[in-house]
Amino acid sequence: MTHLIPLALATAALSIGGAVSAAAPREFLSRFENAARSADASFVPTAARGAAFFTAKHATAWSCSSCHTPDPKAQGKHAATGKLIQPLAPAAQPDRLTDPAKVDKWFRRNCSDVLNRECTPREKADVVAWLLSIR
Ligand code: HEC
Repeated sequence: MTHLIPLALATAALSIGGAVSAAAPREFLSRFENAARSADASFVPTAARGAAFFTAKHATAWSCSSCHTPDPKAQGKHAATGKLIQPLAPAAQPDRLTDPAKVDKWFRRNCSDVLNRECTPREKADVVAWLLSIR
């Protein structure tokens, strides 16, 4: 049974979050994909859908690209404060999608700014699939 221990530790680290728990970007894709599949077993994360979601307006004046630009390799700028935001694609900014606490916090906050609600697991899986598809 010892082979189960590393997986259990990795899972615990991912769910607790914090500085000790660096995760690989792919783990977020699996996490959101699995959550989406529990509602719809046929769901497949799709980069093109993630790109469309990211650049579209939803319930507010902002889209994701209002602050992040439509290019995940580009530096963004906060639409309200003007503060610079480093690129979102791990290919351009290696610490992206590695810290569960940060990923959860910013998905929650940004989705509420753009959609007036949390993003669904499907939406998050599509966005992450798109960010990971950028080379
Ligand atoms: C009002 C400006 C703004 C909008 C709109 C916005 N974001 Fe962000 N986003 C930020 C800021 C600020 C941060 C945190 C600073 C940083 O990490 O550089 C951030 C961080 C993130 C992160 C954290 C990534 C990581 O691992 O470091 C993700 C993912 C993200 N945003 C996705 C989105 C998505 C998806 C949308 C659209 C639903 C969106 N953002 C819309 C400003 C914005």
